[in-house]
Amino acid sequence: MDLIASFNRCFGKQPVLLAHAPGRVNLLGEHVDYNDGPVLPVALDRVVRLAAAPSGDDVVSLSALDLGESVAFKLAELEQRIDIQGQPLPGWALYPAGIAWSLQSDGLPVSGMQAAYTSNVPIGAGLSSSAAVEVVFSVTWQALGGWEADRMRLARLCQRADNVYIGIASGLMDQFASAHGKEGHALYFDTRSLEWEAIPLPAAISIVIADSGVRRALVDSEYNERRAACEKAVDLLRQYKPDMRSLRDISPQEFAAFSEFLPPIIRRRAEHVVQEIARVQSAVVALRLKETESFGALMYSGHASLRDLYQVSTPELDALVEIARDLPGCYGARLTGAGFGGCTVNLVHESHTEEFISGLSDAYKHRTGLPAQVYACKASAGAFVERLS
Ligand code: GLA
Repeated sequence: MDLIASFNRCFGKQPVLLAHAPGRVNLLGEHVDYNDGPVLPVALDRVVRLAAAPSGDDVVSLSALDLGESVAFKLAELEQRIDIQGQPLPGWALYPAGIAWSLQSDGLPVSGMQAAYTSNVPIGAGLSSSAAVEVVFSVTWQALGGWEADRMRLARLCQRADNVYIGIASGLMDQFASAHGKEGHALYFDTRSLEWEAIPLPAAISIVIADSGVRRALVDSEYNERRAACEKAVDLLRQYKPDMRSLRDISPQEFAAFSEFLPPIIRRRAEHVVQEIARVQSAVVALRLKETESFGALMYSGHASLRDLYQVSTPELDALVEIARDLPGCYGARLTGAGFGGCTVNLVHESHTEEFISGLSDAYKHRTGLPAQVYACKASAGAFVERLS
């Protein structure tokens, strides 16, 4: 899509900047970012692209090109979540409005603008399409306002928009990855200390995404429920470890010793988190040593844990992982993102990529009757802005 031409058609003028922000795929460390754990995402070569110009007043006019919808709202009316006609903002507009609200509430000036945007990050697939939208708007307002703020601050303000303005209790991983991606690298991010490091991916590896095509309803409420179960586990475990603040503070050995009395569901949820944190720590060592087979084995066990303990998988995602496991060149496969449908991520030897893609699509279709979108992606750069004038 010619974004500049589309902007021009919508607003009858030229944009002053173009901004880009990627989706992400998480290699390992699922449902640990709201438990202070470490994660290993990769920024994707699937991005939101946005063209913008200042409006010169208090109004933000947006055109969501893929949806064929537009809206305008006033910066003075963000709290009310209404458009300039006083109607409730459509769901998609809550993300940009939430970013404006979050930046403003942290003292960062936000100005009126016109913006048109388009995305090729699939929606609801576990690849963080909404985090990419949030991040693209945050860097756009930063560029228009000319103020300083580091990327971690922006990522946290995007997360705040999710948590407070939109009402999803998400962690920081997705916005972090979209803001910090690095070409050819996975991002090892400690969500407690906020320290992070880009670790090179082995050269002969392809990251293959397989979209099950299944989207489940109630993802937000199920997600919030999982988070609440983790908090409950911490409350209950505190009688043994009084200084415990999150599930990050208990080792798998301690957990095995103390967890017997936890109610069964809470225990399963917490066991996943405690073991997943340990898995990420082992996976980082494997990645540094380029031990792709050990890395892949951790992905398979991560999937089994999400399926059996955290219970966020679906029969379709399980089928994708089982099929992948038997295909030549596959090191590891697991569901990625929150789960409840969406995608798996697969690490495949480069020389087998094409064969893997067709083998997985064909066998999935045969087994489930559903088409899967299967494609290789590249670890890419995080959000950036290009000035046009
Ligand atoms: C969603 C959330 C993230 C993270 C993952 C699960 O993508 O936005 O913060 O919790 O689910 O790992």
